[in-house]
Amino acid sequence: MTFATHEFTRYAEVRAALADPLLVPTPAEPGPVGTVAWLRASVARFSSGEEHAWRRALVEAELARLDPAELRKAVGGADGDGDGESGAAVVRALAGAMGLAEPDAVADAVGVAAGAYFGGGGAAEDAAVARLVELCGPEPEVAAHRIGLLVQACDATGGLVDRARARGGAGESVEARLEETLRYDPPVRVMRRTAMGDTRVGGVAVAAGDLVLLDIAAGNRDPEADGDHFTFGAEPRICPGRAHALALAAGILERGPGRELAEGITHMVEHVLRLASTWTHWDGRPRPVDDRVYTPHKAIRRVADHLVDHLAELEARLAGEETQPDHWHASATTTPADLAAFTQEDLEEAHSRLNRLARIWANRLDALTAAQLDVPQALNFVRAGQTPLPGTGWTFREIAAHLPGSAYYADSVGDLTPAATAAATPAATPAKEQTT
Ligand code: HEM
Repeated sequence: MTFATHEFTRYAEVRAALADPLLVPTPAEPGPVGTVAWLRASVARFSSGEEHAWRRALVEAELARLDPAELRKAVGGADGDGDGESGAAVVRALAGAMGLAEPDAVADAVGVAAGAYFGGGGAAEDAAVARLVELCGPEPEVAAHRIGLLVQACDATGGLVDRARARGGAGESVEARLEETLRYDPPVRVMRRTAMGDTRVGGVAVAAGDLVLLDIAAGNRDPEADGDHFTFGAEPRICPGRAHALALAAGILERGPGRELAEGITHMVEHVLRLASTWTHWDGRPRPVDDRVYTPHKAIRRVADHLVDHLAELEARLAGEETQPDHWHASATTTPADLAAFTQEDLEEAHSRLNRLARIWANRLDALTAAQLDVPQALNFVRAGQTPLPGTGWTFREIAAHLPGSAYYADSVGDLTPAATAAATPAATPAKEQTT
């Protein structure tokens, strides 16, 4: 018996087809545990009826544990250069948030398995699914819904990021860019259904066994859609991960290539301020470390000046100017102000000063392109036609990566809570900072 294929492009037809219980995703043929066939036969995506309902409930329970706002912050490592990079970043973030032990290995295997999720596949894809069962298990049933969730997330969200990037949209908020992309350039273009009984879509008779293709991209553009879209499907199968998808895509899009470097600086400042919160207990004796002495005020001064010094260097280079000559006395001097008691007010001022400096660095690094980050000093001029300055200075990436070393100054003073001081054996020498 031959079955017909019907294609629908109008908003009303797509909506009617998605709501029709007789039109279901083509059921998957089962296979041995750890194969692509087994995966397809075990997930909500290709199930129907009650089986679909309880499998979907498992996925929704897993997703309820994952806070989209946290995912937005956590997602990283996708500069958008490599094929599949955004999808891999999405999977790494989800796997990490799900508490899976090896997010990188999970992302690699999901990348392979995703290629066969909607059909096809061979030994490599089966091996990837088998590896995923180990990584997402131990129960195959639990592993299956986790793998299904990760595979669903991978290509669709990666595709959304890539399409939103290609769309551009300078001046638009990330959210507006994503919403436009979802509506006019959806990453999932077509949905398939198989008729489980005779039915009708619009005026068209669909017989049991017929294949139905729903053109989402066309349906979204239909004037009748009036702002609505099917990019995430429709009830009862509407994508349960849509809030997560938007958060992950926004997180990747707003993440410039300098974001990890900025985080290094922010974490250093957090570490310094955590130690500084104990320095109101300081006994007034400078702490000798290496060939210098350190005090609370001196440590804060050095951390702040180090951030200011390299920021001035970076800004001068971006403006095509010579950097100012080095007149710092840095750690070689201990001023009377360095020896003053460190009060609660000093701590509060240090918070405001260092947090603002970290924020300025983060904003500056976010605004740099990958090329600007990695061009050596002599070539790093934004003004066309300027003669490069002499010198073989660091790239901006190297400068930013060196700044977390400022923790050295604070570590030299250490944790001064009375309990920590009493317990302290002679202070371990902190890792040597690389400059002054
Ligand atoms: C832009 C990104 C995404 C798009 C466009 C998208 C789109 C869709 C669509 C259209 C469906 C329904 C398919 C159908 O009815 O045939 C679906 C289902 C599903 N999606 Fe998404 N999705 C995205 C991201 C995600 C993410 C991030 C997750 C998980 C974190 C996820 C998990 C799922 C699951 C588990 C299903 C199956 C639900 C069911 O069968 O009841 N998706 N998605």
